[in-house]
Amino acid sequence: MTQATPGGRYRKAGRNRPSHSGGVLPVLISADIFRASRLVEWEVEKMKILSLFRSILTLGQGVVGGLSEDSAGSDPIALFGRWFKEAERAGIFLSEAITLATATKEGRPSARMMLLKGVDEGGFTFFTNYESRKAEQLEENPRAAIVCHWSILQRQIRIEGAVTPLSEEESYAYFATRPRGSQIGAWASKQSHTLESRQELAARVEEYEEKFAGKDVPLPPFWGGYRLAPERIEFWQGRADRLHDRFRFLREGNSWARTRMSP
Ligand SMILES: Cc1cc2nc3c(=O)[nH]c(=O)nc-3n(C[C@H](O)[C@H](O)[C@H](O)COP(=O)(O)O)c2cc1C
Repeated sequence: MTQATPGGRYRKAGRNRPSHSGGVLPVLISADIFRASRLVEWEVEKMKILSLFRSILTLGQGVVGGLSEDSAGSDPIALFGRWFKEAERAGIFLSEAITLATATKEGRPSARMMLLKGVDEGGFTFFTNYESRKAEQLEENPRAAIVCHWSILQRQIRIEGAVTPLSEEESYAYFATRPRGSQIGAWASKQSHTLESRQELAARVEEYEEKFAGKDVPLPPFWGGYRLAPERIEFWQGRADRLHDRFRFLREGNSWARTRMSP
């Protein structure tokens, strides 16, 4: 037996059927949840179609052309900039998402996703809580590695170097651009520390919303940026038959030494 659902489609009666014992409210709530889930399904379908379309447009660009000595050039920061723009143009969601690896002083590694917020000759910047696990590790072992991966373009960039905290001014300049909700969130979250419950976090959010009501949210003293000054940058362009192009750049004083590597 089938029955009409709020989304206008038919499904087997008995499955996910709202209970009548709780009155009208649970029926309305489950109807809303059903509508929301249909909306999410449709959004996911749309994203799949869009990403398929983008893949068709972008797949093969680098794989066919590869990365030649000429296109790699002698400046890895400039090459990073070009690849980053191409990742953005390819429509990759969160093209600035990176993996950041740090390690304890004994060399025990840990890695997590982060958002890359800036790149220039001085290095690669990201922002976080200075009392988090990664910050503790950077304090005792100020070296880190970053990996970028843009799957549609079959590209990977690996960056390694020493990390230093940004100045308070630099951190504030970025913090001030964040939405108010994220600024309050930075105050409320004791990142990487245990929480009794979600309510505890919500209560802290409320506390800081009240504290800063009607005012600009100041930079938390335990929050800010880091800059990784690159000493080694490696570009990987996927090619057919796993015969990929790999170029390693090593910092030599004020310039870079480039070497082609075996894939
Ligand atoms: C796509 C993505 C981007 C993220 N960006 C950041 C970020 O920019 N800063 C940050 O502190 N955490 C970010 N996170 C959360 C981190 O992955 C991590 O959970 C958090 O920083 C705590 O890490 P830690 O305990 O190793 O210090 C991001 C997570 C994801 C999935």
